[in-house]
Amino acid sequence: MSITPRTSTTLTQFLIEQRRRFPGASGDFNALILDVAMACKAIAKSVAYGALADMLGNHPGDGSGSVNVQGETQKKLDVLSNDLFIRMNEWGGHLAGMASEEMDGPYPIPEGLQRGKYLLVFDPLDGSSNIDVNVSVGSIFSVLRAPRAVVEGGALTTTDFFQSGAEQVAAGYALYGPTTMLVLSVGQGVHGFTLDPVMGEFMLTHADLKVPEDTQEFAINASNARFWEAPVKRYVDECLAGKTGPRGKDFNMRWIASMVAEAHRILMRGGVFMYPRDTKEPEKPGRLRLLYEANPIGFIMEQAGGRASTGRQAVLQVQPTSLHQRIGLVFGSKNEVERIERYHTEPVKIENGNPLFAERSLFRD
Ligand code: F6P
Repeated sequence: MSITPRTSTTLTQFLIEQRRRFPGASGDFNALILDVAMACKAIAKSVAYGALADMLGNHPGDGSGSVNVQGETQKKLDVLSNDLFIRMNEWGGHLAGMASEEMDGPYPIPEGLQRGKYLLVFDPLDGSSNIDVNVSVGSIFSVLRAPRAVVEGGALTTTDFFQSGAEQVAAGYALYGPTTMLVLSVGQGVHGFTLDPVMGEFMLTHADLKVPEDTQEFAINASNARFWEAPVKRYVDECLAGKTGPRGKDFNMRWIASMVAEAHRILMRGGVFMYPRDTKEPEKPGRLRLLYEANPIGFIMEQAGGRASTGRQAVLQVQPTSLHQRIGLVFGSKNEVERIERYHTEPVKIENGNPLFAERSLFRD
């Protein structure tokens, strides 16, 4: 069977066209995105080979296991993907430093390599509990500007990364699914590229993606229901009540446990994703991480006309206070996310209909 490509714009061509809007641009940014794309292609290859290349299971392979700064057991592919991101991005001269889910602290560009004006923050392999069962996983990345002092040779510190999501220069993710896709925003909409595995090129296949404003599909890990706050419980209960409830329509539910895959589904057909703050581990203000999960996905959602929130405020407005900070996250179709935010500000009605007390939330921001 011969395959006729449906598109002829490569990621490189797309980036060059974007750059023409900024005649003074050096080309560093484009080169950085191409390095990130190269890391994603290398990860896609390892994911695709799976057991054939001994890629499944925990790291290290002797079964003793290794644990990241979050206390999570690292998979072989977590560690390999992190190494690939570092190796592909440290040498190009575009970065002053990196930070990742898999590293305790920031990674400065080694002595002897040229420093650049950007910072790269990433989750090299999101949803990695899915690796061993051959379900989609992905990489998430965020590009920030480095402080001038660091670009000029000063020490890289953790606080250099404490920039709100609104300050991101670009964000994106790669999805290693039935096809490998790179979804990218450089602050002018969201565009999706599909990897042509023979040419080794990301081709523009999904220009100017938009999240539908309304949806009848939600995603949440319902095993946590007993830990949810009242506004989240109210929202889900109303969805479950379907046609016979206050929403007057039936809802569908999905949970892949791979946020990149959920984000991609929502970009394609709408929906709402919730990993809200809950009382399961009260000392943790959420499950997902702000800098390399919530912010880049939030940027993509907002650039596609959707919304991303903690439930109480726009995610992109949150001022980070630590590198691996966790946060409650709700994103997707705008009208549903706004509804969930509204529920966080309204008194909760008790079953018999009496608004007994205004239980907004157990937590305060
Ligand atoms: O670490 C992030 C992540 O793997 C997300 O990709 C995913 O949405 C979530 O964790 C799954 O969490 P749980 O195991 O609680 O369903």
